[in-house]
Amino acid sequence: MSEAVLASPFIFDHRRPAAPVPPAHPPRGFGFIRSVRNNPIAAIGVRAYEQPILRIRNMLVDLCVVSDPVAIKRVLLDNVDNYRKGAQQQVRLKPALGNGLLTAEGASWRFQRRTAAPVFQHRRLVGFAGAMAAATNDMLARWEALPAASEVDVAGEMMRLTYDIITRTVFSNEVRADQQKMAAAIQIYFDTIGRGDIASILGLPDWIPTPTRRRAAPVLAFFRSELQQALAARRARIQADRDSAPDDLLTSLLTARDTDTGEGLSDSEVYDNVVTFIGAGHETTANAMAWTFYLLSEFPWAAEKLVNELRALPEDRDVTAADLPNLPYARMVLEESMRLYPPAPFIARQALAADRLSGVPVRKGTAVVISPWLLHRHRTLWREPELFMPERFAPERRDAIARFAYLPFGGGPRICIGMAFAMQEAMIMLATIARRWRLTLRPGYDVIPQASITLRPRGGLPMKLERR
Ligand code: HEM
Repeated sequence: MSEAVLASPFIFDHRRPAAPVPPAHPPRGFGFIRSVRNNPIAAIGVRAYEQPILRIRNMLVDLCVVSDPVAIKRVLLDNVDNYRKGAQQQVRLKPALGNGLLTAEGASWRFQRRTAAPVFQHRRLVGFAGAMAAATNDMLARWEALPAASEVDVAGEMMRLTYDIITRTVFSNEVRADQQKMAAAIQIYFDTIGRGDIASILGLPDWIPTPTRRRAAPVLAFFRSELQQALAARRARIQADRDSAPDDLLTSLLTARDTDTGEGLSDSEVYDNVVTFIGAGHETTANAMAWTFYLLSEFPWAAEKLVNELRALPEDRDVTAADLPNLPYARMVLEESMRLYPPAPFIARQALAADRLSGVPVRKGTAVVISPWLLHRHRTLWREPELFMPERFAPERRDAIARFAYLPFGGGPRICIGMAFAMQEAMIMLATIARRWRLTLRPGYDVIPQASITLRPRGGLPMKLERR
C-alpha cells in the first residue's frame, strides 16, 4: 500500500462526484474500439483500477496501460529516450500545432525546450498576474450586467476567459483582427484540425479535400495570416526598439536564445509555439476551472472553507501573485479537482525498442498509455479514490503522495512547461471569482465527464450565478 493511502485524511462526505461506473466486463474487439472512440474513460474496466499494468494485445491493438508509479517513472524519466510521443496523438495534434514544443521530438524538441524554458520563469509569470486578474474582472463585469440569478454555461465561460488570458499574455491582444473574429477562428481551428478527422487518422495526404478540411480551410488561412502578420510586426518592433515591445510571451520567444549556442528560434518555430501555447494552454486550464466550480457546488462545505480563506484578502484590490502562498486551501481544492478530473486524461507514448515495465515485456512499437484519470483513481494508490477530499493535498500530507502517482501536468523532461503559469492563472481565477460569486449547478443536471485530448463536462455546465 502506498504512502498516499496511508497518509489519507478521514472521510466526512461519502457522495461520489460524477464519474462513469467502470464496466465489470469491458467490450472486446470492435466494441472496445467503438467505446474508446465514444468516451475512453468509460471504456476502462473495473479491474484496471487495481492492476499496475494492463496489456491489451490482439489483431487490432497493441497497447500497454501503465499505472505503476515505478514503471511510469521509467517511461517518463529513467528510460525516456526509449519512448517517443504516441503516434495517434501526434496525428491528431500535428496538423494544428506543427512542430512546436508539444509535438516536436529529438534534437528539435531539446533546442526548443532549452530556449523556451526562461520564458516561463517565475519572475516573468508574476508579471502576468495583472492580466490574469483583469481578464477575470472583465468576465465578472459581464456577469454583473446579467439579470440576478442568471444561468450560464460555466464550462463555456471558463473557455472564453482562459482564451482572453492566453491572448493577453501571449501577444498582448496585438492581432489586428477583431477580437471576436479571431476567437471564433481559433475555436474552429482547434475544433476541426485540432480534433483530427478520419483522413488525418488514416494518414491521407493534406491535399485531399475532406469535408473537415474544406470547412477549416478559410479559417486556417485567416488565422495563419493574422498571426504571421502579428509576428512579423513584433519582430520589426523589437529590432527597432527592444524596450518599446510589450513584455509578453511573443517577445520572450522572439528574443529567447539557446543558453548553449546563443541561437534563437526561427519564425516557424515561434509561430508553432504561439499556436501551441494557445492550444495547450487554454482548454486545459478552462476545464480545470469548470470541474473545480462543479465540485464546489456539489460540496458546499469546501466552498465555505474556501470563502473563509479568501476573506483574509484585501477587498479593495485585485488578487496578486504575492497573495497565492497565503491561499493553501484554494491550492488543495485545485489539486484535488485535477486529481478527480485531470484536464489531460491521457499521456501517450510509443516504445522505440523492447523494454520491461513492471516485469511485463513491452515490444518495439507498442503504444504505452499513462492515464492520469486511471492513475488518480487507482485503488492501490489512493484511499477512497472516488471521493472528493481536498485534505489529501494538505501541506503536511502532500509529500506522502508519490511523485509519479499524481500527474496532472505529466512528468520527466517533457513535463508541462506551462505548469506554473497554469497554477498561477487558476489560483487567481478561483480566488477572484469565488470571493464574490456563488455558482450552483442546475438541480438534477446530469454531469458526464467526456474525455478526448482534454476532459470536458459533456454538453457544458449550466450553473446559476449569485453575488455573495
Ligand atoms: C491546468 C492546465 C494544464 C494542464 C493540466 C496541462 C497538462 C499538460 C500535460 C499532461 C503535458 C505533458 C504531455 C505529455 O507528456 O505528453 C503538458 C505539456 C505541455 N503543456 Fe501543458 N497543461 C496545462 C496548461 C498549459 C499552459 C497554460 C501552457 C502554455 C502557456 C501549456 C503548454 C504546454 C506545452 C508547450 C507542453 C509540451 C512541453 C514539452 O513537451 O516540452 N500547458 N501539459
